[in-house]
Amino acid sequence: MGQRKIVVLGTGGTLAGTSASPGDNIGYKAAQVGIAQLLAGIPALQGVPTESEQVAQVDSKDMTFAIWRALASRCAHWLAQEDVAGIVITHGTDTIEETSFFLQEVLAPTKPVALTCAMRPSTAISPDGPQNIVDAVAVASSAQARGVTVVCAGVIHDARDVAKVHNWRLDPFSSADEGPVGYVEEGKLRMVREWPPAAPRPPLLARVEAAQEWPRVEIVFSHAGARGDTVQSLAAQGVRGIVVAATGNGSVHDALLPALRAAQARQVKVLRATRCAEGGIIAKPGDEFPATNLSPVKARIKLMLELL
Ligand code: SIN
Repeated sequence: MGQRKIVVLGTGGTLAGTSASPGDNIGYKAAQVGIAQLLAGIPALQGVPTESEQVAQVDSKDMTFAIWRALASRCAHWLAQEDVAGIVITHGTDTIEETSFFLQEVLAPTKPVALTCAMRPSTAISPDGPQNIVDAVAVASSAQARGVTVVCAGVIHDARDVAKVHNWRLDPFSSADEGPVGYVEEGKLRMVREWPPAAPRPPLLARVEAAQEWPRVEIVFSHAGARGDTVQSLAAQGVRGIVVAATGNGSVHDALLPALRAAQARQVKVLRATRCAEGGIIAKPGDEFPATNLSPVKARIKLMLELL
């Protein structure tokens, strides 16, 4: 077989955004330029066999389950093709940590799926999107790579660990204590730890594809002045799960506890995740509700998939 191709799935984001003036890096509209046009404007990709598909065109703050389902299906379709080395997904930075975690949980692919993004729109004086795409293509082309990663500003992050920690820097992500998986340096990969694990998970994909409605799971913050009626109202609306963004090592405001107990007694799954940006809850004897060391937004996805 000749050189295998890279499939680039477009979903929008700032990378595909435009602004009225080239000097404006914040007053732009995301998700305006098609993926084929974006790729055509990157000379470094000439000679690299690519195929593109526009799966969605959204500002990622507006991400939906329907887009996630379509993305998972299209990834599974392309990953099964022998002539495909890997997939690149262009995405907004705002929820890339959620989409990448969702895809890793559902697909855990043996081939690489590299999500990438930009902090400046495509019309900027110096847009960061084209280099990020080139770096993501380098990851997706690597014979060693596997699993779902986020590639931005030359850094490769594991989907499980990555979080957006800055609202305007060109390198807005952190993998906290775990650190990055590696770096892309002038097209070469320098690895510092293992790729995300690969495991065939066809039943989960089938459930995602079949789901008409996804189980509703909400996040409740434990904060000064927290009120139990927030939980009561969610339980009355029929939520299937509540992730408590808990303080410190998983502690929960006393005012929330009776309502959480009552919700749990009504079969609502309650899961604690720390609201601290780094670290994870260390369980201890006497803990009342189960805990995870995922961030609250990722814990929510994990619980939703468990409830599917
Ligand atoms: C988005 O997440 O779609 C907009 C913001 C960004 O890509 O940085």
